[in-house]
Amino acid sequence: MTEGTRLDQLPEWAALAAHRADFGETHLRSLFAEDPKRGESYTLQVGDLYVDYSKHLVTDETLTLLRELARTRQVAALRDAMFRGEKINITENRAVLHTALRAPRGAVVEVDGVNVVPEVHAVLDKMAGFARRIRSGEWTGHTGRRIRNIVNIGIGGSDLGPAMAYEVLRSFTDRDLTVRFVSNVDGADLHEAVRDLDAAETLFIVASKTFTTIETVTNATSARDWLLTELHADTDAVAKHFVALSTNATEVAKFGIDVANMFEFWDWVGGRYSYDSAIGLSLMIAIGPEAFEEMLAGFRLVDEHFRTAPPEQNVPLLLGLLGVWYGAFFDAQAHAVLPYSHYLSKFTAYLQQLDMESNGKSVQRDGQPVAWQTGPVVWGTPGTNGQHAYYQLLHQGTKVIPADLIGFARPVADLAPGLVAQHDLLMANLFAQGQALAFGKTPEEVRAEGVAEELVPHKTFRGNHPTTTILAGELTPSVLGQLVALYEHKVFVQGAIWNIDSFDQWGVELGKVLAKRIEPSLVEGTGIDALDSSTAGLATRYRELRGR
Ligand code: F6P
Repeated sequence: MTEGTRLDQLPEWAALAAHRADFGETHLRSLFAEDPKRGESYTLQVGDLYVDYSKHLVTDETLTLLRELARTRQVAALRDAMFRGEKINITENRAVLHTALRAPRGAVVEVDGVNVVPEVHAVLDKMAGFARRIRSGEWTGHTGRRIRNIVNIGIGGSDLGPAMAYEVLRSFTDRDLTVRFVSNVDGADLHEAVRDLDAAETLFIVASKTFTTIETVTNATSARDWLLTELHADTDAVAKHFVALSTNATEVAKFGIDVANMFEFWDWVGGRYSYDSAIGLSLMIAIGPEAFEEMLAGFRLVDEHFRTAPPEQNVPLLLGLLGVWYGAFFDAQAHAVLPYSHYLSKFTAYLQQLDMESNGKSVQRDGQPVAWQTGPVVWGTPGTNGQHAYYQLLHQGTKVIPADLIGFARPVADLAPGLVAQHDLLMANLFAQGQALAFGKTPEEVRAEGVAEELVPHKTFRGNHPTTTILAGELTPSVLGQLVALYEHKVFVQGAIWNIDSFDQWGVELGKVLAKRIEPSLVEGTGIDALDSSTAGLATRYRELRGR
């Protein structure tokens, strides 16, 4: 599909490079002066998301050239292959079908000749039934007490998605439930999560696609020990307090969880694309099956948009291409996601895995090295807090860091009236930052304020820092689904252009293997001599400090 001529040898690439040279230091101030309506025309709407891309270092010509590149790279053909269930994850020979997780009942999406949609809905129905039983109190623990605490144990895609979405949709959750997420193999994580919980009222959800991830299996084993000790019970108690979310029934059974209490998903769902599968069970319990369905509808809406909207109106395509433009021709190494919503505090961390595990690659699909930038460093925290921390670098540093500013017109419905008034100030900050980053402050403007000449350079803002502003009416389950799907497809577009496999993650394997090898050196002191001198020194010092 994207095989063939190397990206950087395409005429479309050369045309973009030439265009970049012409673009030079063109400032957003002049682009807006030349086209006063740019702030209206450089916008798109998808579902509830109003996307203003006017503050990007692009002209109509840039966008045309980028779309031509996408056409030559056959992004649409790869997209269609993904939606059709073809095995586009070539290094693992797997289909990539997170879009089937939100396909409507009755749709047909086939993998190896089997329609997967009925299975998807069977699991969603099973999840809904279970979530209702927990929420109503019908499902009780081993001692007959109602479940009031949910602890999700998982890591990476089996943690970040549900943890992020639970935070985003807090105002839609049953506030009588305590929901916590444990991921780190540092025992402190589990300790802090359970120390004030009543085991009799606690349900552990062990989330692991493979059910072999060492962090998760270790934490789940410790959680089981804690439960049995607290309840003075034998392993019979596990059935009422542990459920599993996995593709691996054999390992689930080996752990001691009844496979009747396993919620299944499939190898065609990547971990970082999985929180709208069974991996979202903790979220579904918290927000209820109806709100979960609303979220899926939001995903679906953007899937349809990505699949059918013409290139000029296709928002994920546009956002993907803008990232390609900055990476290749402005040497942008990073991309900031800056939400102006406290509820989105974990959103960027979620996107880090989505984007960096997908597109942090340096070989092409055929194994040849890339000779161009691939995925950026994705980072950011809620914008207002960032303003008082690292925005200094965004405004006056030396780096090109395109940023997404995300905000909502209305605060969530259950905010106290006194706090609703703060919302305008929050949003004024978002709009102000977009403005300041784009237009800066010229030396003349600084001087006009009577600033001493020696301070003028220090108080000047170069501006010309590109941002996308995404504005929606309110942060609802549907809007969350729309946002996540938007970023999923943006990442897809970039992987297609760069000709990398966005759906494997071999880069995480080496560390896992080495940790397993090093552990006996730390515990028993064996094999230290075989380690490199730095690691051996560290292991020896570690053992001394542990009194071993
Ligand atoms: O180590 C990386 C990774 O494989 C992620 O891709 C995945 O989301 C995470 O580990 C957890 O894997 P699992 O769900 O199989 O426990």
